[in-house]
Amino acid sequence: QTVYLADYTPFGFIPEKVELRFILDPHATRVLSRIEFRPNPQASDRRFFLHGEGLKLIAASIDGAPVTPELTDHGLCCEVPEGPFVWAAEVEIDPAANTALEGLYMSNGMYCTQCEAEGFRKITYYPDRPDVMSVFTVHVEGPYPVLLSNGNPVDSAEGHATWHDPWPKPSYLFALVAGDLVARSASFTTMSGRHVALNVWVRPGDEGKCDFALEALQASMKWDEEVYGREYDLEVFNIVAVDDFNMGAMENKGLNIFNASAVLASPETSTDANYERIEAIIAHEYFHNWTGNRITCRDWFQLCLKEGLTVFRDQQFTGDMRSAPVARIENVIALRGRQFREDNGPLAHPPRPESFVEINNFYTATVYEKGAEIIGMLRRLVGENGYRKALDLYFARHDGDAATIEDWLKVFEDATGRELAQFKRWYTDAGTPRLKVTEEWDGDAGRLTLHLEQTTPPTPGQDQKPPRVIPVDVGLLNPNGDEVVPTTTLEMTEARQSFSFDGLASRPVASVLRDFSAPVILERQSDSAERAFLLAHDTDPFNRWEAGRTLARDVLLGLVLRDEAPSGDFIDALARVAGDDGLDPAFRALALRLPGQDEMAQALSDAGVTPDPTRIWEATEQLSDTIAQRMRPLWERLHTEMEVTGPYVPDAEGAGRRALRNTALMALSRCDGGAAARAQFAAAGNMTEQLGALSSLLATQTAKGEVDAFFEQWKHDRLVMDKWFGLQVMQARPEKAAEVAEALTAHPLFDLRNPNRFRSVFGALAGNAAGFHHPSGKGYGLMADWLIRLDKLNPQTTARMCSAFETWRRYDADRQQMMTDALRRINAQPGLSPDTTEMTARLLP
Ligand code: ARG
Ligand code: ZN
Repeated sequence: QTVYLADYTPFGFIPEKVELRFILDPHATRVLSRIEFRPNPQASDRRFFLHGEGLKLIAASIDGAPVTPELTDHGLCCEVPEGPFVWAAEVEIDPAANTALEGLYMSNGMYCTQCEAEGFRKITYYPDRPDVMSVFTVHVEGPYPVLLSNGNPVDSAEGHATWHDPWPKPSYLFALVAGDLVARSASFTTMSGRHVALNVWVRPGDEGKCDFALEALQASMKWDEEVYGREYDLEVFNIVAVDDFNMGAMENKGLNIFNASAVLASPETSTDANYERIEAIIAHEYFHNWTGNRITCRDWFQLCLKEGLTVFRDQQFTGDMRSAPVARIENVIALRGRQFREDNGPLAHPPRPESFVEINNFYTATVYEKGAEIIGMLRRLVGENGYRKALDLYFARHDGDAATIEDWLKVFEDATGRELAQFKRWYTDAGTPRLKVTEEWDGDAGRLTLHLEQTTPPTPGQDQKPPRVIPVDVGLLNPNGDEVVPTTTLEMTEARQSFSFDGLASRPVASVLRDFSAPVILERQSDSAERAFLLAHDTDPFNRWEAGRTLARDVLLGLVLRDEAPSGDFIDALARVAGDDGLDPAFRALALRLPGQDEMAQALSDAGVTPDPTRIWEATEQLSDTIAQRMRPLWERLHTEMEVTGPYVPDAEGAGRRALRNTALMALSRCDGGAAARAQFAAAGNMTEQLGALSSLLATQTAKGEVDAFFEQWKHDRLVMDKWFGLQVMQARPEKAAEVAEALTAHPLFDLRNPNRFRSVFGALAGNAAGFHHPSGKGYGLMADWLIRLDKLNPQTTARMCSAFETWRRYDADRQQMMTDALRRINAQPGLSPDTTEMTARLLP
């Protein structure tokens, strides 16, 4: 059941009009469909096959005459007339029994849908593929106060509503919601003066947590008009918050459905990081209205066409709304943590894969985050104006289309005259390029030459990696800190290439790969004095941060490998940045964050050393203690001075101050037995302060009654409880992590059916590197036990979480054995879902 990109053929029929009628019932919902088909002149295959899974067919007819189609597990086939015809069917489904959360399902008594990628076939028989687009009219019937679907409301009365979506769309954008919901509303006037009603629908009790989402939506709508010239195209825009949801959110046309964690916010229950994530996801789903919905994908191999571009757009938006350098640094940390890890393991795949078994397994960091980096590189190469021209052409040429990566690149070629055949390798080739940079200084000629060399290690199914186009942004600084050569983009196209800068009076310091201009691993020999210089003086904020990060990484490596105490220079450099009140507090907080333990494991493995997660944890603890103790007065000062008084505002400025304050608190807690953290916990006026204090207490094992107090205070709030579950596992000592996680699975509020709750425990376990990889193997065993249980209910979330094991090749023989044993045990379960079967098979040797 492997599908190949090369096998694409268009569907034999075009649905001109789709009419659906839903008669809702928890265990026996009836779905009646009436579809006007005509033959597709573009297609040669005239077999009438409709997808359908888990449906009870009650009746089917063609042009009013009953038919008996041939049914399989995956759909039906039927003889059809030569010309146009009307297909009608009635099916029955059981939303209350749907624990996979795909198709039509129930969450806390409310009906909702998730159709992307292939969930619509669990609702009714249909050509469930993104290149089949149609205009939908939907009637919903049921004894519920709120009945929603896509498009504009046509009419509604008690127990009945009709919706019409005038924009042709593929079935994966279909949505339906019904239940006892309440809305918070606002409006938006588009650039051409049309009024749009905006609603955020939530369960009664959550009304007070919608304002931020509404504001973020308005800001997104305005931004897309101003920056991309894109206007909204319906009378209403509905957002619904759902407790049980496999992903973050879904861009269904006019009816976005959100994981409650990605939309509900209040100062008391949400952290600054939650607010930032909500703003980004609201923007992301809204931006899909053009990049995804108006222009969709021809097939699921093209997923990064919509996802990479939409992530790039939401990252631009966050940069504009908040601090661009801080947003860039956060994105790169996330990219390295998830995408580089994926790209360097058995799950590595190109942003546009060539085959798959279950497409849900390809909603990955590579498709999303690397997909976004590719757009960023394109923009850098063609310039801001070229990019704008290309995007205008993309929207003009492909509106209403189901497009491909080839279409996308062609638009850039036509708009800018640049040839992109080599650039396309970023889409077709997997793996993270290594970029080696060496310098040559010719003092007599006043010339600095940079020698660049790129190589990409083999990935599954791709042994040979031809060179790619790599935009390398470089700037040169004088030893006094002045910039002698401002940022220039070097375009690398060969395996080896040299670039010279002439007319230099003295040897400059090179700042290479500014703004992280390409998703590569930079290998550059440079001494710690030069890094400290860049940390103090680089005019590129990303590379300024990067210099500090590299210093910290080298210090940690020294500790891990040679038990080498951190140099005083490092501590001084760090103290200067942390204490520099001229710098953005958010930036300072980021500069103080040590490289993650998983990142260190990857760095060691790249250097040919088998990483020991326990040793990395010890070194990280030791370095954190040293930093904490040597700079104690600074932590005390920052903890006092960074306090934000007055009402909580979730803006970048306040968030930056709170982040630096919590960083100071964590360090302080290593010195004061938790006194300051206990005080902050008791006085906290918002969740950022409260959770920051609880984290510090847990991390330093100085919590007393706070864990229980937090529970008593918040046990009624599902999203806060997720934090409570997660934090305990995240902050557990390595030898305790599996035990803590296991104990939490026995807690009355643990719920295997709720993906957020499951992830709060097991996502945290996977993220606690030394705990998950503890030599006892308990972490692996527990993870496997629970993935096996979850797979019976929710294959999608199970398959996704198998990536906890994706790093097994890095480790020693014992760990390799235990990790692959765990994977084999999962893989051997009778009745394992195709999703998890595919993932475990790809992970195993
Ligand atoms: N298109 C959605 C988004 O990026 C993600 C939904 C994916 N869902 C899934 N089951 N794979 O915003
Ligand atoms: Zn998306």
